[in-house]
Amino acid sequence: MSTQPGNPRPLYKIFNDVPPHYDIINRVFTGGMDKKWRLLAAGECLADKPKQVLDLACGTGDLAVTMAEMADYPVEITGLDFSEPMLEIARWKAGIAEKEIKFIEGDAANLPFPDAYFDCAGISFAFRNLTYRNPNAAKHLAEVFRVLRPGGKFVIVESSQPKNWFIRQFAHLYVRTFVYWMGWWVSGNRGAYRYLGLSAANYYTPEALQELLLNTGFGKVSYRRLFFGAAALHTAIK
Ligand SMILES: C[S@@+](CC[C@H](N)C(=O)[O-])C[C@H]1O[C@@H](n2cnc3c(N)ncnc32)[C@H](O)[C@@H]1O
Repeated sequence: MSTQPGNPRPLYKIFNDVPPHYDIINRVFTGGMDKKWRLLAAGECLADKPKQVLDLACGTGDLAVTMAEMADYPVEITGLDFSEPMLEIARWKAGIAEKEIKFIEGDAANLPFPDAYFDCAGISFAFRNLTYRNPNAAKHLAEVFRVLRPGGKFVIVESSQPKNWFIRQFAHLYVRTFVYWMGWWVSGNRGAYRYLGLSAANYYTPEALQELLLNTGFGKVSYRRLFFGAAALHTAIK
């Protein structure tokens, strides 16, 4: 787990260093499927027409902007992330799309919102960061549960573990070699892509993630595998 001396926040340094290459590397490594997966997550977030929606650990803002573009009714969207360089790109994207989205700097371990404030919280490709061997994992889960209203929905799209053994071995090899070497080469940030490879290869199965959400207190929890299980879309109701 990477922590910066003097800054106890896990992963903070990694996510302050990667923004310039973050989007392009994502697009290349997933063959553009990350966009489609965020679209599915956005649709799931907006399905019940929530009024207040959070994009948790929003990074460069793709989920928030996708939701803003998709919504055909008034909705207030807030993106939160602890990396200001990521947020700068998110604000720029929202400007280009001419969408009003609040992007605020904050830590998922201590969300700056009152209890039961959101009807829905979505998180794309960051739940692994908040939960994989993260010393603050329990706080992150407790916080998202706290800021959702009773009956509110938590939507997670995240890399996952293919069920088929051969596909799983291939997926692990892919993230631990190709993604690692290419990510390091393009971004110059070896640590970030070693962490990505390791955390993705060792992350929860959808069943284990479902169990984690149930243990947090969520009631109805379900998931759907995407692209042979390389990713999964989870929903949980408070
Ligand atoms: C892999 S990126 C995903 C970004 C974006 N959600 C997406 O779909 O591309 C993970 C994001 O989580 C953010 N993050 C990690 N830990 C965080 C924390 N404790 N509080 C807030 N943001 C955090 C990072 O700054 C980074 O922007």
